[in-house]
Amino acid sequence: MKVNGTNYLTIWMENNKVKMIEQNLLPFDFKIITSENYLQTCEAISTMVVRGAGAIGAAAGFAMAQAAIEANENNYESFLQKARKDIEATRPTARNLFAATELVYQAALSGKQEAIIAAQAVADKDKSDSKKIGELGNELIKDGFRIETHCNAGWLAFVDHGTALAPIYLAHQHGKNIFVYVDETRPRSQGARLTAWELKNENVPHAIIPDNAGAHLMSKGLIDMLIVGADRIAANGDVANKIGTLEKAIAARFYNIPFYVAAPLSTFDFNCESGSQIPIEERDQDEVLFQTGINKEGKPEKVMVASPGSEAINPAFDVTPAGLITGIITEKGIIRPNSAEILKLQ
Ligand code: MRU
Repeated sequence: MKVNGTNYLTIWMENNKVKMIEQNLLPFDFKIITSENYLQTCEAISTMVVRGAGAIGAAAGFAMAQAAIEANENNYESFLQKARKDIEATRPTARNLFAATELVYQAALSGKQEAIIAAQAVADKDKSDSKKIGELGNELIKDGFRIETHCNAGWLAFVDHGTALAPIYLAHQHGKNIFVYVDETRPRSQGARLTAWELKNENVPHAIIPDNAGAHLMSKGLIDMLIVGADRIAANGDVANKIGTLEKAIAARFYNIPFYVAAPLSTFDFNCESGSQIPIEERDQDEVLFQTGINKEGKPEKVMVASPGSEAINPAFDVTPAGLITGIITEKGIIRPNSAEILKLQ
């Protein structure tokens, strides 16, 4: 997608180094950072320089390829195994990370060049899957639709295009008159910071809403559909996504509003029977107790936004039961979220 008229990917590999947009600085500063080795790429994943299911999948694949490049012949396999553990310890919920690590690890066993090719294939597929999801999802969007989305499942969360936002971009490009309600998505505000920035760059009409405003807008008849992304989808269609998604799905069901999830097959965990088996990442309580933004002088500032001395609980994801989901938009088609339909995708 374009930033100031130039096309960018969220993440790519160049001369064995990984280049990434530093997402912690957005929307205030746009910077590309370079990771020289696999441990630096791990650090970028855990500190959320790169985040979002598809983008961390690509990052994990590239990290595995970097490990293969760094490994020497004497301890090649044990180095790869250690690297795989390090990569898989960075973020626990997003399925894409584990799918990519497994794929590139297997390729790396055949050689360094094979690992690089496999990692690039993961990133390329993420991009083409997102594009297809955009085309299929666009067909669900009618002229005049007002769409609510949660967190950031835009191009920054993937290598390009995005999932939940890809149909929205296409609908807008096709001249449909649409409006997007962007949940701010506390505590890290991926909606207010990243989704809003993406939509502004593409001139898609939108407004940021407080996380707790969705049900109110639905009750007033102001929302026609919801589209969200996914971090992991169980074999029965339960969906783990950013914390707060479940509340939106419950409200949408109450008001009879279609609730769609957009995700590639690389997000499906066919070995996970139901959402209750999906590991939910617990993040640092400081993300709730403090906020980072820029002050009036344009300088980054971290400020406390909660009562001093109180502790916080910070689960990063929740699970929406399949029964609350109207459909899942995948690159292979729009499916009903149930085991039979999901089995056909395998
Ligand atoms: O913690 P994050 O920012 O990596 O969370 C992942 C997400 O961006 C969301 O849950 C998103 O809706 C699905 S991933 C595209």
